[in-house]
Amino acid sequence: MKHILKLHVNGEDYEILTEIHKTLLEVLREDLGLTGTKRGCDLGTCGACTVLIDGKPSLSCLTLAAAVRDKKITTIEGLAKDGELHPLQKAFAEKGAIQCGFCTPGMILTSKAFLDENLKPKEEEVKKAISGNLCRCTGYVKIVEAVLSVSEKQ
Ligand code: FES
Ligand code: FES
Repeated sequence: MKHILKLHVNGEDYEILTEIHKTLLEVLREDLGLTGTKRGCDLGTCGACTVLIDGKPSLSCLTLAAAVRDKKITTIEGLAKDGELHPLQKAFAEKGAIQCGFCTPGMILTSKAFLDENLKPKEEEVKKAISGNLCRCTGYVKIVEAVLSVSEKQ
C-alpha cells in the first residue's frame, strides 16, 4: 500500500508517494536518490546506514520512514556547505581514513554528532563513539586520527 510521505532531509522538504512499510534507508536511497547512505547488514549491526535524526546518529535500516516525518534528517549529502566539504570529510580524505569508503558516510555522521557534543575528546572516547560503525578496511587508526584532528581545530 502506498501513502504520501513528507520528509525533511538536508534542509529540503520532500513529498513523495511511496510504500508505507519502507524504512528510512529505502526511502533515502530508492525514492530520493540519496545513495550516500549505505546498506550493509540491514540488521542494525554495521552502522553503514547511519544518518542523523534531529542531530542524533540513527540506523536508517531500522527506522520506518513514516515514523520520522516530523524530524530533521541529515545524510552525508547534507554535510558540505556552499561547495565546501565538512571538516570531517576533509580530514578523512587527508588522513587516509577512507579505503573502500563503504563505512565512511555513517562513520562521518556518527563522528559529527559526537564532536558536536564533545569539543575536546580523548582518543578512547572517540573509539567508543564510533564503536557501532564497522570498517573492514582501515583498522580504525586513521579514522580515529582524523576525528581527533578535527577536534583539535575546534
Ligand atoms: Fe543498518 Fe547495517 S545497514 S546497521
Ligand atoms: Fe572500507 Fe571502512 S573504508 S569499510
